Amino acid sequence: MRAADVEADLTRVLVTEEEIRAKLDEIATQVAVDYAGKDLLLVGVLKGAVMVMADFARALPIHSTMDWMAVSSYGAGTKSSGVVQIRKDLDVDLHGKHVLIVEDIIDSGLTLSWLLSNFASRGAESIEIFALFRKPEAARVVIDCKYVGFDIPNEFVVGYGLDYAEKYRNLRDVAILAPHVYS
Ligand code: XMP
Ligand code: MG
Repeated sequence: MRAADVEADLTRVLVTEEEIRAKLDEIATQVAVDYAGKDLLLVGVLKGAVMVMADFARALPIHSTMDWMAVSSYGAGTKSSGVVQIRKDLDVDLHGKHVLIVEDIIDSGLTLSWLLSNFASRGAESIEIFALFRKPEAARVVIDCKYVGFDIPNEFVVGYGLDYAEKYRNLRDVAILAPHVYS
């Protein structure tokens, strides 16, 4: 797709690639302190968290391992259904692990709320969340998220792993999707 085609679909850039990198460095420094000497497992939620996981894991100056979970609660639309389906389960056993869930975005919070209770029954030492973005105005359940990158307005955003109907994940910045694309 040509750059001009993509730009017509976006209202404006919300967070740039540089701002994301700086924020990841800041959070990685904090996580390194909090998890020093612990067996840290990063669990990425596919597919949205692919970019944040790739950059965050490399920014992290301590040992960690990585696993992935794929769930779906959205279909091709822009609103969470609250019905979560496991598309791909974890490969590793959580016993004795300090789990840090790496998420692209918390919208209603329904997906993470479901994931947290699912993980709670698997014997992890601890479970915390790192979400790069959060929409406080969209919250339908309260999620105790230890590390948050950016609180953003209640708009549908794409880029840096975030998609609309599987498109725009490859954009470097995070931008607001123009309503004419989905309405
Ligand atoms: P909930 O509502 O369960 O949603 O917190 C979490 C998941 O929904 C996706 N999501 C978005 N994807 N732009 C996107 O590209 C958005 O603005 C957006 N809001 C929610 C995302 O996969 C997230 O993990
Ligand atoms: Mg996601």
